[in-house]
Amino acid sequence: MNDLAGKHVLLGLSGGIACYKSAELTRLLIQAGARVQVVMTDAAQRFITPVTMQALSGQTVYTCQWDPRIARHMAHIDLARAADAILIAPASADCIAKLAHGCADDLLTALCLARSCPLLIAPAMNRQMWQHPATQRNVAQLRADGVTVLGPASGPQACGETGEGRMLEPDTLRNTVVAFFQPKVLQDKRVLLTAGPTFEPIDPVRGITNRSSGKMGFALARAAAEAGAQVQLIAGPTALPTLEGVLRIDVQTAQQMYDAVMACVEAFDIFIAVAAVSDWRAESVSAEKIKKNGEFVVPRFVFTENPDILAAVTRLPKPPFCVGFAAESSDLEKHGREKRLLKNVPLLVGNIGPETFGQDKNELMLFDETGIKHLPRADKLSLARALVKEIAQRAARVSAKPQ
Ligand code: C5P
Repeated sequence: MNDLAGKHVLLGLSGGIACYKSAELTRLLIQAGARVQVVMTDAAQRFITPVTMQALSGQTVYTCQWDPRIARHMAHIDLARAADAILIAPASADCIAKLAHGCADDLLTALCLARSCPLLIAPAMNRQMWQHPATQRNVAQLRADGVTVLGPASGPQACGETGEGRMLEPDTLRNTVVAFFQPKVLQDKRVLLTAGPTFEPIDPVRGITNRSSGKMGFALARAAAEAGAQVQLIAGPTALPTLEGVLRIDVQTAQQMYDAVMACVEAFDIFIAVAAVSDWRAESVSAEKIKKNGEFVVPRFVFTENPDILAAVTRLPKPPFCVGFAAESSDLEKHGREKRLLKNVPLLVGNIGPETFGQDKNELMLFDETGIKHLPRADKLSLARALVKEIAQRAARVSAKPQ
């Protein structure tokens, strides 16, 4: 995905063992389409060489304010001006202290002071250094100055200790940079989603499920989080990972999904029901595995209906802005229109063709009170971002209406 196409990221490295992760981070940012300009402090060069970073970024690496390759000795100005964002990873305790106090005694700190673009830092240090009141004061000052602080994570450290202070992993940092550049159309909105299939047991080892992979719902959860929302995902059985920052509750059955949604939905502004919820479950679940005894007898099951989660949410006295999904095997236009009215939702999203189950691409048809809108075939994350914009516009119109 070319999520960072056209973006110029200045990646600053200060001294820390996490510098080795910055090599991978450079590769991931470049893969995402960014132009990456690396600047290293003296201490960073003790851990990894400029040659490595130059080979990976494909750009000259700058380490010194007085580099004769930049005319007029204005490296700090020229480099800062060219960047859409500066990411310092790793950001050492010393680097953070300098930034907090506006020091400019090397190229990296000088260009941070000379910048007009956003600054993100990924702290990396021993847990005692991180917890030290001086570091905490400096970090608080940077936050107050509008700097975005990413992490740190907790876990085993190079010094042999375990605790808070590890730099976030390169793929997490790449995702954060990608999210940073997405338009904040759902800033501070609270979004609840269901995603994936459900699993209805018939005995301890068997059950009824469906072909939903959860990919579209997970992509939407990610897109909503990238758009600035606080996201709670309630997921049926799927092995998909969740984007950092998205809260997740895992459930198996439709009843569990219903209970999880109803327990919290009133705290949300938007509810997006993407899950392919089983309409029926076995009336009674066998406590033992149903045996194929010597004499073969085909078991017969009696089914009972599951609660309709979306319908229950729309019936609440003050429902959030609700979005339903539909996967039809024929005549989506007709069924989509009918289902929107039946489900009583302002927006219903139709998957064009049930063969999109499990695929990485999809094509959507949006049904609202004004008619039908087509979102053409694309990868599910791009579609999810487009859909989040559509949802945000409609939700804003509804909340702007006098009650
Ligand atoms: O009626 P149908 O299952 O096609 O409706 C699909 C929409 O309703 C989806 O948004 C789905 O998540 C939601 N749904 C639900 N609870 C059910 C069945 C469907 O929330 N029991």
